[in-house]
Amino acid sequence: MYNYSEEQLESMKKVEASRDYRLHNLHVRMTAEEKDEVLAKFHPDYITSAYEELKVGQNKGGKVLHELAALLQGHSRIANQNIDLSKIDYDVDVLVIGGGGAGSSAAIEAHERGAKVMIATKLRLGDANTAMAEGGIQAADKPNDSPAIHYLDALGGGHFKNKPELLYKLVNEAPEAILWLNNLGVMFDKEPDGTMVTTHGGGTSRKRMHACRDYSGSEIMRTLRDEVFNRGITVVDFTAAIELIKDTDGKIAGAVLMNMETKEILIARAKTVVIATGGAGRLHYQGFPTSNHYGATADGLVLAYRAGAKLLYPETLQYHPTGAAEPTQIYGALVTEKVRSLGAQLVNKEGEAFVYSLETRDVTASSIIRECKERGNGIKTTDGEGVWLDTPLIDIINGEGTIEKRIPAMLRMFGKYGIDIRKEPILIYPTLHYQNGGIDIGANGMTCIENLYVAGEAVGGIHGTNRLMGNSLLDIIVFGRNAGQQAGEKCKSVELKELTLSHVDEFEKELAEAGIESEVCSPKLLPDYRRKAN
Ligand code: FUM
Repeated sequence: MYNYSEEQLESMKKVEASRDYRLHNLHVRMTAEEKDEVLAKFHPDYITSAYEELKVGQNKGGKVLHELAALLQGHSRIANQNIDLSKIDYDVDVLVIGGGGAGSSAAIEAHERGAKVMIATKLRLGDANTAMAEGGIQAADKPNDSPAIHYLDALGGGHFKNKPELLYKLVNEAPEAILWLNNLGVMFDKEPDGTMVTTHGGGTSRKRMHACRDYSGSEIMRTLRDEVFNRGITVVDFTAAIELIKDTDGKIAGAVLMNMETKEILIARAKTVVIATGGAGRLHYQGFPTSNHYGATADGLVLAYRAGAKLLYPETLQYHPTGAAEPTQIYGALVTEKVRSLGAQLVNKEGEAFVYSLETRDVTASSIIRECKERGNGIKTTDGEGVWLDTPLIDIINGEGTIEKRIPAMLRMFGKYGIDIRKEPILIYPTLHYQNGGIDIGANGMTCIENLYVAGEAVGGIHGTNRLMGNSLLDIIVFGRNAGQQAGEKCKSVELKELTLSHVDEFEKELAEAGIESEVCSPKLLPDYRRKAN
């Protein structure tokens, strides 16, 4: 058994004692007013001191978190370097930057259209948030559901801020996305007759979460990666994009790449570029731990912003309610929402359920923070505090063996540390999970810069200011495929002019004129966990 503290063991006894009562008396849902109140007081997005105004670029005057502002207003990695744009290392139709689910989907579709495609990724193909996704992918493909109902759920969850044309595309193309993945070989959970198993997520009014146990993203990424390799698409790994290249007409024309090991600079000329660089959890906004992949450092936002693109809702982040709070070795790791879908409840130090477990994520996370910070009902952990997630309820509600069958990765993750989630509850606290905002695109996937497309977590606006579970695995497929199809078609009519990096010089000039003195070089590419000297 795990070496819990006395206080934790005392509290755990209260959780066990109240289990039967809680099983039969579910916590009531919050009213709209109650939700607004808890969000305003406890959601990290509302902490004004964590934000600052941007002084340059398309979002000048808008506010973003300090950590992002430092990167967006940082210096180019090629500032003061003489980059020879006449020496072309790679010459392609479609350059995809990023090797996760969105990038792979884009590459596959562009390749399908006959384009010469290349993926450049700073790590390896598949090293991305996609592979870390657990709970599932939404699609309204059951008789009691429809894309219209899916639209309304996501619109409400997103606080009515979702860009309508993007959300429309997301929900309408969802059933086809599931079919596409199924046909590529994704092993979705199915009933013996082949019907897809679907469950609820926070804020969904229908069971539309399709899953592969609790390693849905890993299974999807496995399949996409196979498809990329089977098609023979060129993948240049351990090579980061550090700046976009334009042509003298101001259209996108490729990227400056950097070999992560040797630091060699390479030039990729491309008729179209798809940014699919993912999220920003590794910036650890406001000191939060993260569920994100090591490479999630907002690189695409920096590249696009410097080239003149606009960001939409970059100030809104998602703190997943249930990051592991104990043991310290997995602090911040994702405990999938599926655990709550299957019946686990959120319980405080006194053994009381304090929130309906499947409120939307922002409301649930804020309620947990309130329970700890205001009400003093959190339980001390090695790294801070947390509340209980009462996992043994799952087998009680659904039958013995459910945990083993439906969430084996959770069972294994905690089991490694002597915690049997079938028998004991686990400690959780919100963890930085998702970048709700990102680069502004139209329904064709293109930014305001001609021939620059974006897909996946780097896009802003699909989910408004709060995404629902399972709509991210969905958007990487729908918008990844869309970007690949559009870029794969568009490149047929593109005639590139002379290449230039003048926008980088102009941005540096803008920084100087705005009086920004920064020692930051961006994009960041990798987090820095080295101990700082005192
Ligand atoms: O909780 C989860 O499994 C996360 C899913 C998501 O962010 O979509």
